[in-house]
Amino acid sequence: MPAVVIVGAQWGDEGKGKATDLLGSRVDHVVKFNGGNNAGHTVVIGDEKYALHLLPSGILSPGCTPVIGNGVVVDLSVLFEEIDGLEARGIDTSKLLISANAHVIADYNRTLDKVAERFLGSRKIGTTGRGIGPTYADKMNRLGIRVQDLFDEKILRQKVEGALELKNQILTKVYNRRAVDVEEIVEELTSYTDRLRPMVADTALVLHEALDRGETVLLEAGQATLLDVDHGTYPFVTSSSATTGGACTGSGIAPTDITRVIGIVKAYATRVGEGPFPTELGEGNDPDGDGERLRANGGEFGTTTGRPRRCGWYDAPIARYAARINGVTDFVLTKLDVLTGWDRIPVCVAYEVDGERVEEMPMTQTDFHHAKPIYEYFDGWHEDISHCRELGDLPQTAQDYVQALESMSGSRISAIGVGPDREQTIVVHDLL
Ligand code: GDP
Ligand code: IMO
Ligand code: MG
Repeated sequence: MPAVVIVGAQWGDEGKGKATDLLGSRVDHVVKFNGGNNAGHTVVIGDEKYALHLLPSGILSPGCTPVIGNGVVVDLSVLFEEIDGLEARGIDTSKLLISANAHVIADYNRTLDKVAERFLGSRKIGTTGRGIGPTYADKMNRLGIRVQDLFDEKILRQKVEGALELKNQILTKVYNRRAVDVEEIVEELTSYTDRLRPMVADTALVLHEALDRGETVLLEAGQATLLDVDHGTYPFVTSSSATTGGACTGSGIAPTDITRVIGIVKAYATRVGEGPFPTELGEGNDPDGDGERLRANGGEFGTTTGRPRRCGWYDAPIARYAARINGVTDFVLTKLDVLTGWDRIPVCVAYEVDGERVEEMPMTQTDFHHAKPIYEYFDGWHEDISHCRELGDLPQTAQDYVQALESMSGSRISAIGVGPDREQTIVVHDLL
């Protein structure tokens, strides 16, 4: 009867997809509970590589029921494109369930996402342009379109009319764009109704019944703690709750059902889009080209937008923060293999903010913008570690690095990634 949560402990792209896939064969349901097709999870199984955006990574595990929870925003064209793409590769997607309460990304929200970013200019967030922010804003404004609305055309038309009354004013008068026609939107959305109908369910009830039967439910976050709308580096965040609290609101599972919280954390750090990133190796502070080397070794280019990811060293205060916010019981440390080949590896252990040493994530965004990393240095290793399957197989310096991160990150490290493949994982403590 356990519900287990997987969350990102940094700024996303930590390897949540791989971790979810690793556990997929041992769980009964995998639930995506937040975000939409702003996420990009790459899963490698043998010679096959899958890039998932909207579908939960559990879709690749045959025995498991993938669920899109009520907290997700669904772009229906992307949904069916992704389903068709997987089916063409022999993946059975017929078990997929979608919450009747999930919100739908309408075309005007994709447009508004892009024009708002352009309007912000240098203050832009660097969104993925998928309409995520405007769709969540509509949900909170009570102007949103839900999956269930597609089954009642009269209601759907009323809701689209209501939303467009305001949006067309904004589109035409603020952004100088053409007004959107109600019928165009209704037609597009209803074109999916028949295909969608068999997948739609009261997913909260389905999940509760599964837990009552003693089955295991895995709740898979998109994005990450530092991108969470409440706990992240606001306003440079996504618009959903990507932390453990969001796993409850975004699925209908109760906090008391959660027995384990697995934080996924990279052995270094990356970020896509704008916003503060204290350990970033960027122009002016990276004389040895370490940022470029991390990007090249780690293949750090966005799965969704292809943008180069900003790269930097491991930030322990961030990991501790994520451990606290999420109640992390176990960390999975990913991409340790990417650090192979450095003589010494810096780790941020605290910050200097306006001349003072600060041990934890600063309270204000202004201080976080001013935070300069204070580094400790650890000996590196040069051996190929991608074949290691036990902790003892790692070179001593790599073991020391892992142990040092564990001691400063607020929870135990229960698994270590040494390559993108499912198999390239060292399991120290069982995750389920
Ligand atoms: P997610 O968004 O958290 O699921 O992460 P992404 O899939 O966007 O980015 C993680 C990338 O790292 C993917 O390309 C994975 O295949 C890859 N990856 C995951 N774990 C490891 C690992 O331990 N080592 C290496 N080298 N690559 C990994
Ligand atoms: P996964 O699940 C990394 C970032 C965007 C932007 C900000 C807001 O693969 O870890 P949005 O389109 O969500 O309004 O953009 O959030 N962002 C991600 N960065 N990984 C992700 O997902 C992300 N999803 C959104 O780059 O800075
Ligand atoms: Mg990703």
